[in-house]
Amino acid sequence: MALPNKPKGERKAVRDPEIVEKEVDVLVVGGGMAACGAAFEVKKWADNESVLLVDKAALERSGAVAQGLSAINTYLGENTPDDYVRMVRNDLMGIVREDLIFDLGCHVDDSVHLFEEWGLPVWKKSPEGKNLDGKKGMKQGTLKEGAQPVRTGKWQIMINGESYKRIVAEAAKKAVGEDNILERVFIVELLLDKNKENQVSGAIGFSVRENKVYIIKAKTMMVACGGAVNIYQPRSVGEGKGRAWYPVWNSGSTYTLCMKVGAELSMMENRFTPARFKDGYGPVGAWFLLFKAKALNGLGENYLASDAAKKELEYYAPYGNAAITPTCLRNHLMLFEMKEGRGPIIMDTVTALEELGKTLDKKEIKHLESEAWEDFLDMTCGQANLWCATDTEPEKKNSEIMPTEPYLLGSHSGCCGLWTSGPDYDWVPDSYKIKADNGKVYNRMTTVSGLFTAGDGVGCSGHKFSSGSHSEGRIAAKQMVRYVKDHADFTPELPMSNDEIVDMIYKPVRTYLDNCEYTTADDINPNYIKPEGMMYRLMKATHEYGAGTATYYMTTDKNLEIVMDMLEVMREDCEKLAAGSLHELMRAWEIYHRIWTVESHLRHIQFRKETRYPGFYYQADYPNQDDENWFCFTNSKYDPQAQKWETFKRDCIQIIPSE
Ligand code: FAD
Ligand code: ADX
Repeated sequence: MALPNKPKGERKAVRDPEIVEKEVDVLVVGGGMAACGAAFEVKKWADNESVLLVDKAALERSGAVAQGLSAINTYLGENTPDDYVRMVRNDLMGIVREDLIFDLGCHVDDSVHLFEEWGLPVWKKSPEGKNLDGKKGMKQGTLKEGAQPVRTGKWQIMINGESYKRIVAEAAKKAVGEDNILERVFIVELLLDKNKENQVSGAIGFSVRENKVYIIKAKTMMVACGGAVNIYQPRSVGEGKGRAWYPVWNSGSTYTLCMKVGAELSMMENRFTPARFKDGYGPVGAWFLLFKAKALNGLGENYLASDAAKKELEYYAPYGNAAITPTCLRNHLMLFEMKEGRGPIIMDTVTALEELGKTLDKKEIKHLESEAWEDFLDMTCGQANLWCATDTEPEKKNSEIMPTEPYLLGSHSGCCGLWTSGPDYDWVPDSYKIKADNGKVYNRMTTVSGLFTAGDGVGCSGHKFSSGSHSEGRIAAKQMVRYVKDHADFTPELPMSNDEIVDMIYKPVRTYLDNCEYTTADDINPNYIKPEGMMYRLMKATHEYGAGTATYYMTTDKNLEIVMDMLEVMREDCEKLAAGSLHELMRAWEIYHRIWTVESHLRHIQFRKETRYPGFYYQADYPNQDDENWFCFTNSKYDPQAQKWETFKRDCIQIIPSE
C-alpha cells in the first residue's frame, strides 16, 4: 500500500525499529517495467500461491520510465525474431546470448499490444502516410488490429508516453492487488536457505518512511531493481548535481543482491556510455531517427560522413560496416573528433526541422515544433527546462551533445547482468540451460536455485528497452509459479535471527546515535562517515582510475590495480557508515550496493584483456579487439562462504546465421 508523502524534513531513525515478518510463495523485488510485467502475469498462472511485490519507491513513478517515454524502442511488428537477434548481436559487438534475445523477440509485441489496450496512445500512420499522434492516432485502430505505427527506426515506434509508467503500474496493481504491494521498502540483502544449499529463501529490508524492518520469506523470487546510476562522477555538478540520464533509484541493487548470494554475473565489463544532450541528459534517439538530424563537429562538418570516420569504422568490421553502426562505435567517433580538437559535437536541430518543414503547412510546422518539445517533456523534462533557461528554440538554435558518465544496465544499449538460464527448447545449447535442484530448467533463473531476474538484471542480451523488460518480467513470472508448484514441499528457513537482521540493517543508525553528540557538525565525526562522503569517494575513484570521463573513458592495468585497492578500503569503511534519518539509511545501503557493483564491473574490465567496446571504455594496455582469446562471455562468481571471487570464461555460441 502506498504511504503518504513524508512531512517536511527527513524522518528520524530510531534505535529499535518495529519488525514486520511476511511469508509468501513468490516475491518480486523492484517495481519497474520488469517487475510490473511479472506482477501482471503472475496471477494468470498462480492458483493459491501468494505473491508480494516490494518497491523502494512508489510504483506509479519509479524506475527508468518514471518521467514517461516518447518511444517504445522494441516492437518487432513486421520484423522477425531472427533479425532482432542480428541487430542486437551487431550492436553489442558479437558477444550475446542469442537464445535469450530470440525468446524475447517472440514475446515482446504482446506487451506493447497490452500497453495500447490499457490506454497508452501509440502514434499511427494515416492512409496518406502522415504521422498522427494522440487521439488522432488512436482513431486509426490498434496495432493488434493491424494499424501502422510511426516507425522511427526499424525497431522503434513513437508514443505519447508521459503517463506510460502510471498505465503499466495500474495494470500491475490491479492484477496483483494493492494489498500485495509494499511501496517505499528498500531491500538490503537476500538470504540463502538455512538447510538447502544454493537456495534463495528470503529478502530483508526496511521502510524508508517508517521505522520498520521487513523480513520476508519466499520460495522463489525475482530481483529486478534496474541497473546502476551514480557510480561514476557525473558531468552534472553544482546546482545541476543529481541530474543523470538513467534513473536515480537504480543503485546496483540487482547485481549486488544477487552476487552476494553467489549468483553468477556475466559481461559486467560492458557499460553504457550514452551520448546525450549536454547538461540536461535528453535522449538523442528521436532527433537522429524521427527528425533525421545530423551531428556536426565544432567546424560544422558532418563528421560521420568523413573519410576518417569511414576508415575508423572499417577497422572494427564486421560490426563497423553494418547498416546501423553499433552504439559504442558511434560514441567512439564522437570522442575521436573531440580528441582531435574538433569538438564540441552539435546536434543540428535547426537544419533538421527546416528540412522536415519543407513539405508541411504552417499548422503542421507548429505541430512539428511542439513534438520536438514533447519528446523531452514526455521523458526528460529537465532538458526542456534547460532549453527554456538557455533561450533555446530548437528551430532557431542548435544544442550540444556529449557522451555522459557510464551506467551499468542490461536492458538498454548495454548487456551486463546476471547469467541466467535460457528457455528449455531443443535448439538452445545445454551450456545455456541452468538446472535447478530437481534437474529442471527454468527460463531466466540465475545460478542460485529459485532466484530469477529480468530487464536490466539479465546479462548478455541488451536492447530490450521498456517493452522487452516488461515482457521478460512476464516470462520470469510464469517460470516462478512453475518453480513454486514443483517445490510445494519446500519451507524456506532463514539463516539469521530477527535480532541479527535488525542489527545489520540498522547498524548505520546505531553508529550515528552512539556518536553524533561528539561533534557539532553532524557530517564531520571521527567515529563515522556519512553516505554522502562515501559517495564522493567512490565517484572520485572511478572517475580517475576506472575509465570515467576524466580520462576519456580510458584505463590501464595499473589504474585498475589502484582503484581495486581503494574499493577494498571503501568496503571496509562502510562498516562505519552513519545514518540519522530513514532517507540517509537508504543512502547508506545504496552506496554499499554501488561499491559492490562497481567492484564487479572493474574486476571484469581487469579480466578481459582487450578493448571490445571502444567508445564505452578503453583498456590502453590492450587497445584492440582480440577475437582469438576473448570472443567469449566473461563471467564471475562471488562465493559467499569463502568470501572470494572467481572470474572465468564461457563459450559464446552463434545460433542465428548471418544474412
Ligand atoms: P526499472 O524500470 O528502472 O525499474 C527498477 C525498479 O527497481 C524501480 O521500481 C526501483 O524503484 C526499484 N528498486 C531499485 N532498487 C531497489 C531496492 N533495493 N529495493 C526495492 N526496489 C528497488 N525504453 C524504451 O522502450 N523507449 C524509450 O524511449 C526509452 N527511453 C528512455 C529514456 C530514459 C531517460 C531512460 C532512463 C530509459 C529509457 N528507456 C527507454 C529504457 C527503459 O526505461 C528501461 O530499459 C526499462 O525501464 C528497464 O526496466 P527494469 O524493470 O529493468 O528497471
Ligand atoms: S533513450 O532510450 O534514452 O531514448 P536513445 O535516444 O539513445 O535512448 O535511443 C533510442 C533508440 O534509438 C534506441 O533504440 C537506439 O538504439 C536508437 N538510436 C539512437 N541513436 C541512433 C542513431 N544515431 N542511429 C541509429 N539508432 C539510434
